[in-house]
Amino acid sequence: MKILIIGSGGQLGTDCIGVLQDNHRITPVDFPEIDITSRRSVENICKTADPELIINCAAFTAVDACETERETAWKVNAEGPRIIAETIKDGGGSLIHISTDYVFDGSKPVPEPYRENDSVNPISEYGRSKLAGEKIVLETLPDAIILRTAWLYSAHGPNFLKTMLRLALSDSTRRFTIVDDQFGSLTWSYRLARQIERLIDAPVKGIMHTTSEGYSSWFQAACYFLEKMGVEHSFAACTTADYPTAASRPKNSILENGVLDAQGLSVFRSWQEDVDEFVGRYKDQLLRETRALLGG
Ligand SMILES: NC(=O)c1ccc[n+]([C@@H]2O[C@H](COP(=O)([O-])OP(=O)(O)OC[C@H]3O[C@@H](n4cnc5c(N)ncnc54)[C@H](OP(=O)(O)O)[C@@H]3O)[C@@H](O)[C@H]2O)c1
Repeated sequence: MKILIIGSGGQLGTDCIGVLQDNHRITPVDFPEIDITSRRSVENICKTADPELIINCAAFTAVDACETERETAWKVNAEGPRIIAETIKDGGGSLIHISTDYVFDGSKPVPEPYRENDSVNPISEYGRSKLAGEKIVLETLPDAIILRTAWLYSAHGPNFLKTMLRLALSDSTRRFTIVDDQFGSLTWSYRLARQIERLIDAPVKGIMHTTSEGYSSWFQAACYFLEKMGVEHSFAACTTADYPTAASRPKNSILENGVLDAQGLSVFRSWQEDVDEFVGRYKDQLLRETRALLGG
């Protein structure tokens, strides 16, 4: 299949290329070669690539920055998906669009998971702009697939696990505090790319939750990862109140992959199994890159 991957230099985009390139004809594009907030830019790329499927991995993902850069957040996360969906509606093809656990407010008691048909109520500008993107895509293209994922990490691009590694390697005796009262499902972008591969020919549409099985707090995830990496640290647990950020984040954003499970389509495993495999594959590379970043 001819597939256009937009946001191809990001975490998920990079893993989608790796997973899909053997069996599909991939055109990878990213900013500034494409700007999804520009209709002309999207139409030009689509005219050249003539894709049967677009996977939109592009987004403004800096959750705190979305609070201050609202216009950009809404342009990229809501208007961009509108332009992509309208281009497909006019020219043909299908769309897989990526959304987020942050469309929920997190008021469910932990560990009760959010299901696809639970009420949404985002509490950040990132969540509101991504929810608007979901709605616009489905209004424009009712057959589109929307995958809500969460807490993504990968070997490339900045992410929480890499930040934890950098902190621990910078000073193993320093008591860095990590939030222990927000719960979610750490998800490897490679596994999500595998899920996307599985969905390409599946007769499904609409919103689907796509995260690892199980859940943890940020602190628990950091400790598990560093133990697997064999890296010492003196991290301590703290509360959300101890670690104020520009954007509010849900206390509970655990998702249940209900639609995938019901159809027997899920490729997800526990978050711990995926961290184990991730560390097995990338441990040396991660240590080398992080030490180089720290100047040692
Ligand atoms: N990361 C997470 O923890 C997380 C959690 C839940 C959901 N998601 C969703 O999962 C998807 C993939 O996330 P990710 O972590 O792979 O994101 P990412 O690494 O931040 O990559 C996003 C890509 O989009 C590009 N981009 C930004 N503005 C653009 C524009 N106007 N036109 C074209 N491309 C543009 C970025 O380019 P530049 O680098 O040049 O800006 C970047 O390459 C997103 O939809 C995100 O909202 C992510």
